[in-house]
Amino acid sequence: MTKKTELLSEFLITRGFVWPSFEIYRSKVEAGGFYDYGPLGVELKHNIIEKWRRIFIYPYQDFIYEIETPIIMPEIVFQASGHIEHFTDFIVECTKCGRKFRADHLVEEQLEKKGIKVRTEGLDEKALEKLIQEHGIKCPACGGELGPVGRFNLLFRTIIGPYSTNVGYIRPETAQGMFVSFPRVFELAGRKLPLGIAQIGKVGRNEISPRQGLIRLREFSQMEIELFFDPENPKCPYLRDVEKVKVRIAPEDKVAEAVQQGKEPEVLELTPIEIVERRLVPNEWMAFFMGLAVIYMNELGVPVDKQFFLAKLPEERAHYAACAFDQMVWSERFGWIEVSGLAYRTDYDLSRHAKYSGRELYAERKLETPKEVEEIRLYPNPQKVREVYGQQAGQVMKLIADIAKDSEKVKQLLDRGSIRIGDYEITKEMVFVKVEKRKITSEKFIPHVVEPSFGIDRIVYVTLEYAFTLVGEGKILLRLPPDIAPIKVAVLPIVKKSPYTDIGRELYRDLARRGLRVVYDDDGSIGTRYSRYDELGVPVAVTIDERTPQDETVTLRDRDTKIQIRAPMREVYSIVRQVIEEKRSLVDIGRERGYEIIVRGS
Ligand code: ATP
Ligand code: GLY
Repeated sequence: MTKKTELLSEFLITRGFVWPSFEIYRSKVEAGGFYDYGPLGVELKHNIIEKWRRIFIYPYQDFIYEIETPIIMPEIVFQASGHIEHFTDFIVECTKCGRKFRADHLVEEQLEKKGIKVRTEGLDEKALEKLIQEHGIKCPACGGELGPVGRFNLLFRTIIGPYSTNVGYIRPETAQGMFVSFPRVFELAGRKLPLGIAQIGKVGRNEISPRQGLIRLREFSQMEIELFFDPENPKCPYLRDVEKVKVRIAPEDKVAEAVQQGKEPEVLELTPIEIVERRLVPNEWMAFFMGLAVIYMNELGVPVDKQFFLAKLPEERAHYAACAFDQMVWSERFGWIEVSGLAYRTDYDLSRHAKYSGRELYAERKLETPKEVEEIRLYPNPQKVREVYGQQAGQVMKLIADIAKDSEKVKQLLDRGSIRIGDYEITKEMVFVKVEKRKITSEKFIPHVVEPSFGIDRIVYVTLEYAFTLVGEGKILLRLPPDIAPIKVAVLPIVKKSPYTDIGRELYRDLARRGLRVVYDDDGSIGTRYSRYDELGVPVAVTIDERTPQDETVTLRDRDTKIQIRAPMREVYSIVRQVIEEKRSLVDIGRERGYEIIVRGS
């Protein structure tokens, strides 16, 4: 940690942004990876979420809909999604003290201490064990021998209701709620594509060894969009919205080359349109979301050259992704960290949920010219069925009618010559097969999905780190963009005396009633109070001074430049709104409105 990041982590706790949860029980129980948000943290997080909505949802509200689904979901959802099988991390246990570690992270950290840089993403158990043995990696706690590397499922398990067999899990991503609700939202949206379903909410991942504060939590919040589109029409009509954005990207071929040569991948700087033209992504939606994601992080204070998209190689990708990028942001404390993941999930999730639920989850596309299709139809051969099943023939005929409706089962019966349904073996001889030609004007398909997935807590941390500035003599300035600053205005009477305090309190109430986050403070010298609110990132400080009782004007001070303007008190609300909503500086607004501009020392 640098001096600055050390101060920052202390600052976040003491000023009430965030702190570790269950603090009073920490000596009795291991429950790392949970953080509380204090009053300022809640407000900041709320504003960061609202900015995301303003960039990702509101401009596209005609086809992106936000929903909210449960945090706990039944087991079958995660059997279908593949999380029960695949959502694992590698774990290794010390044979002496029994401590458990995330194997890939342990290997990377221990080798880094020896000056060796390895990339463990994509390695399997055996490869990690080999690295542990080759480099003699021991338990970092007691120096004991490490055991074999295994897999640990990160899902938090629970029971739904009173029956122990009814297993549920806390969702590890908000995504599954959106896939499961697809038929409803699709219906509401008039069965039109593209369709975006967005969700913001809590998720749980039972991380093996959470450290790094807000970066690796066991319970955290995500903002995700599942963008459903027709794979035969993967065009994004909004690509022009992001045409000027510079996206830094390490594409798959550069990453593969870098991994082979043991170096850092080359990062290209391209616009989303160039990314599409160079075929660095499989569809336009991915490039579009890259553009929005860069704008978003930039508006939170992260310069464009401190972010890039890192392609994930096939062996590094989640089980559902045919293509994936991590949006990486530079952190002074943690190095490059992933703040969002962008994945092309194809029709994986909808197909799996269709299979596990028995519900068809499809869209339809109109064909420009009608198409002739051959359909294989099955009809029962009653005589044969009766010969084999006698009195049970009626039951079997019903089963054949069901098989006839399921193209997979028809194929299986015809390919293999028989199919078993429950206790009955149905053979080809028991059916008549007819090939029928039919003209169709539309066809069914399962929509494909592109998903941007943002981790809010990491973004909160990164935003704070970029805003946190030391300005000499141990002073802190939190340069948060005004629209996300938790408190917008500080109302400060110049001295703690009537009528200044009365006027100040009245102004405070008025601003608060009109919905602004505002503080009133008459305690201490005005300079100390300015510093106090600079530290908390308050963009505007309003001072009730000697002139206020006479002419009803106040000064408004800009947090970053310290420049003040003198304006009528009744205009404070509208000026602050302009600062927040139009991203204008006070000086700019003052000049435009013809107010006095005052440049002072602090
Ligand atoms: P990592 O490789 O760092 O474990 P991931 O690839 O598992 O992250 P995703 O599954 O893509 O992450 O999750 C989407 C987003 O959720 C990430 O980009 C990140 O911002 C956030 N996220 C993931 N895991 C955590 C965690 N344990 N704590 C806080 N945020 C997280
Ligand atoms: N929904 C993507 C993820 O959480 O990994």
